[in-house]
Amino acid sequence: MSHNIAIEIQTLSKSYGDMKALDQVSLQIPKGSFFALLGPNGAGKSTLIGVLSGLINADAGSVKILGHDVVTDYAAARRLIGLVPQELIDEPFFSILDLLRIQAGYFGLGKAQWPWIDTLLQKLGLWDKKDAGMPALSGGMKRRVLIALALVHKPSVLVLDEPTAGVDIELRLGLWAFIRELHAEGMTIILTTHYLEEAEQLCEQVAILREGKILALSSTQALLASHPWEYVEVTLAVAAATLPDMLQQALHRRQGNKLVLRLPRGQQRAEIASAIQEAGLLLTEMRQVEASLEDVFRVLTRSGSEL
Ligand SMILES: Nc1ncnc2c1ncn2[C@@H]1O[C@H](COP(=O)(O)OP(=O)(O)O)[C@@H](O)[C@H]1O
Ligand SMILES: [Mg+2]
Repeated sequence: MSHNIAIEIQTLSKSYGDMKALDQVSLQIPKGSFFALLGPNGAGKSTLIGVLSGLINADAGSVKILGHDVVTDYAAARRLIGLVPQELIDEPFFSILDLLRIQAGYFGLGKAQWPWIDTLLQKLGLWDKKDAGMPALSGGMKRRVLIALALVHKPSVLVLDEPTAGVDIELRLGLWAFIRELHAEGMTIILTTHYLEEAEQLCEQVAILREGKILALSSTQALLASHPWEYVEVTLAVAAATLPDMLQQALHRRQGNKLVLRLPRGQQRAEIASAIQEAGLLLTEMRQVEASLEDVFRVLTRSGSEL
């Protein structure tokens, strides 16, 4: 039965004092999937990932990586997983190349792994920096080193904890291209993020974690499709003192001459444009914006529904 399951989490709980960081979480992540674990800060994402990678001991429940229990079969489980931690490290003593070779050594891998290390350096745009130390690198480059470190032993499952925090757009795109390549070759990818937009672009499946509990588990498409609203950002030539009724009713956020309107799905944008025109205001731009994770949360928690 578990042949197609990369990660099997069963009634996992972890508390820090009175704080339930994980509260009876059960979840199966299929082999070869690109899976997003979403949730606001403090939801328990890093704690869950810590347990998956054997860095944090749970109070109750179990986790198996491709059938290997992370506690009772730690060495085998650890070998199957590559973890890119949320916190950047600043190892001052070794060059990037040495760090990667040392990491290979931790897994009992020697020179045979060196060509793969070179490939990683090239694929992640780190080749020119291979003789530098971590402190000399930008935040985005440090993140890439952490990704290379996680991949040194060619794990079956790659776990990225908030990988795009502090990474500039250009680096981010290159990074995702490489991660997609690994996924296409069969690697299971698990990503935590608090950006729904990022998850939407990359992931087939999402779980939403909040206060240590799974709030929703579905395909990314279904999650967004279940959201009853559309959001449109309207830019006016000049900020208006008063808005026509239709805009005022739909107003979600306002920042100077930019308005974000919340509309029922399918409402015609043309109606908005003509309401603006009739009010004697000048529209300079109108574009659709993604529902944010907060927007989705608000709806999910208000209805109390589970997907
Ligand atoms: N080592 C720790 N000691 C005490 N509390 C912790 C510790 N690690 C996490 N927590 C708490 O557990 C909750 C979940 O944290 P975390 O898993 O880091 O959330 P996320 O990664 O989703 O932001 C938070 O309330 C956090 O403050
Ligand atoms: Mg975290």
